[in-house]
Amino acid sequence: MALSFEGRVVLVTGSGGGLGREYALAFAERGASVVVNDLGADIKGGGKSSAAADKVVEEIRAKGGKAVANYDSVEDGEKVIQTALDAFGRIDVVVNNAGILRDRSFARTSDLDWDLIQRVHLRGSFLVTRAAWNHMKKQKFGRIIMTASAAGIYGSFGQANYSAAKLGLLGLANTLTIEGGNYNIHCNTIAPVAGSRLTETVMTPELVASLKAEYVAPVVLWLCHEQCQESGSLFEAGAGWIGKLRWERTQGAIVRQKNQHMTPEAVRDQWDKICDFTDSTKPSSTRESVQYMMTVLSGLESDEEVGANATAAAAAAASASGLNPAEAVGQKLPPTTFVFTPTQCILYALGVGMSTKDPDHLRFLYEGHEDFSCLPTFGVIASQAAMMGGGLSSVPGLNIDFTQVLHGEQYLELYKPLPTSGALTSQSTVADVLDKGSGAVILLDVNTYSGDELICFNQFSVFVVGAGGFGGRRNSEKAKAALPPPKRAPDVVVIDSTTRDQAALYRLSGDWNPLHIDPSFAAMGGFKAPILHGLCSFGFAARHVLKQFANNEPSRFKAIKVRFAKPVMPGQSLQTEMWKEGNRIHLQCKVKETDSVVLAGAYVDLHGSEASPENLTPPGALQSELVFAEIGRRIEDSGSELVKKVNAVVAWEITKDNRNAAQWTIDLKNAGGSLHKGPSSGKADVTITVSDEDFMEVVQGRLNPQTAFFAGKLKVRGDIMLTQKLEVILKDHAKL
Ligand code: NAI
Repeated sequence: MALSFEGRVVLVTGSGGGLGREYALAFAERGASVVVNDLGADIKGGGKSSAAADKVVEEIRAKGGKAVANYDSVEDGEKVIQTALDAFGRIDVVVNNAGILRDRSFARTSDLDWDLIQRVHLRGSFLVTRAAWNHMKKQKFGRIIMTASAAGIYGSFGQANYSAAKLGLLGLANTLTIEGGNYNIHCNTIAPVAGSRLTETVMTPELVASLKAEYVAPVVLWLCHEQCQESGSLFEAGAGWIGKLRWERTQGAIVRQKNQHMTPEAVRDQWDKICDFTDSTKPSSTRESVQYMMTVLSGLESDEEVGANATAAAAAAASASGLNPAEAVGQKLPPTTFVFTPTQCILYALGVGMSTKDPDHLRFLYEGHEDFSCLPTFGVIASQAAMMGGGLSSVPGLNIDFTQVLHGEQYLELYKPLPTSGALTSQSTVADVLDKGSGAVILLDVNTYSGDELICFNQFSVFVVGAGGFGGRRNSEKAKAALPPPKRAPDVVVIDSTTRDQAALYRLSGDWNPLHIDPSFAAMGGFKAPILHGLCSFGFAARHVLKQFANNEPSRFKAIKVRFAKPVMPGQSLQTEMWKEGNRIHLQCKVKETDSVVLAGAYVDLHGSEASPENLTPPGALQSELVFAEIGRRIEDSGSELVKKVNAVVAWEITKDNRNAAQWTIDLKNAGGSLHKGPSSGKADVTITVSDEDFMEVVQGRLNPQTAFFAGKLKVRGDIMLTQKLEVILKDHAKL
């Protein structure tokens, strides 16, 4: 459909001739009411005449269009806009086009040459636009054009004053785009090329004649139309060609070393890299521009690993750097010693979500408890200092850009239950350096000792974005591999909520990276809000396994492996799905709200026989398990009949001690019906949350489901009417 400007009021400054005239005619032809502003000056800004504007107004009116003239200088912006308001009652579009030239080689540019150019181009556009701004804001519509020039973008001999003003307009437009964004005020900049009296001194008469102004007008009209959502962009236009420009930035180089002075020599030595546009990026906002520097700063200033799997967003493809596996593998980092008291153990337990609400958590939270213990995963805390001290960057052959470092995977194995206080010394060795193409993986093995006794072993898998392609091996026999879970529904699912302050609490255990607490820092890393530490989710998942399969007995815990797949936001719920295969508990952790997997390929190995296959029911098993087993048998016997009666997918969340203890899905909708333990794979028609005890009360006919619902004991999401069919599903269990 043709683009109409019916009802719109358009001001084109300097439209008594040249490009401006063409714009004015084109807008009027499409129904706009046009203010034709022109001072009628000569090309250097001298003189004054109403003739130029009048002539264009006459031309428009002769064609049946609507137009009024204004003869003020753009330096009288208020008056120019007032003409629009007086004549047409509003202002929708401002095309800042008026211009003059006062070309001089730089040495000969006088103050007047400089000032007049700034006054007409830059200050004039500012004054006219400012006068229109509040009207546009109030009506929540505005379209603004700034007119720049190739002289400003690329430079032009003899046009220092003009170049400066023209690119100044681009800066002005960039900010107006941001300030006008919420008000549907868009601002774009064009650098036109057309034959006009301004260009006839530099172009041949043929060129002046053939580079018609009418070849530029259409892009101005489109940018000013209500349908056009473009804002903050710069276009070159001429001869019927239109192109868009943007900023391009090299990967650059970090020329500062941790704890060292930054020198000009370092800059010189990295100059080629600083200027190399290979794998360049295209930042389009200050945020994007500064984001990377903040990541650099974090790496250089903090004592922390630039961490969290998810900093990937911040780390656009990085430069490949000096990785030399032959030199690095086998290198030892300086040993670190971690001194702690019960306070650190308790703080860590709180950090990974333990609570006095759960009576069996008390042994990890109360130093006076007869079985006071340290959570097994505290083993990562004792050894992480080796990683976080920035030690990796000091290893010969590991000349990595460690702002590009992500925590990819973690393995922890305990040889002894951790003490609850003391001093633990960690010795770290670069076990291997792998080439994954897009990045490099550094395997850092850390052995942690109490005196001479080996307490635990950690393997940190560190992914260095962009550092691959050095021709190294892809895999290593030294890597503790992540393993996929079995292909059946999980045996146990535990849902546990993190709190809004989970990261704020967890960081007190030693990972002080501001990414986890400071909103502006997180924003610069590309996150909406500070994210939870990957190792915090790791702690949650590990204690879920410990509780479900090892009765919270730390001595049963042997090892854990996880891969960090996605970030978790504090306050989200973690859903740990567990599969028991002998003494190995496979697990996967999801964010319940988004269903995205955050810990993948994970497992916990347990000591002892209690986790053997014949003893599948975890300690403290739920009474409801028996009922669901019975329901399963009934579905096998007469599923089709039940499907007819119920025709719905019913999901159950069974809680115990105020925590989610199990999930079941009874599918009485699809062929023959089915039951499985775990959340429904598709969408359940109704989800019922009830405690194990109340479930049994309902099943045994001692508690009416409706009474339970109104008492808040039975919560229902989805089709509440389906609860009336519960009886069909649950009846006959009263005998249980
Ligand atoms: P032009 O000289 O034909 O048009 C400029 C108009 O602005 C004139 O009619 C003039 O009277 C008016 N004007 C000057 N000072 C004024 C003031 N203080 N208040 C109100 N009106 C005033 O030139 P042209 O080529 O049409 O240029 C239009 C715009 O495009 C200018 O901003 C120019 O710098 C820019 N431009 C033009 C290029 C080209 O190839 N023609 C190249 C790059 C930029």
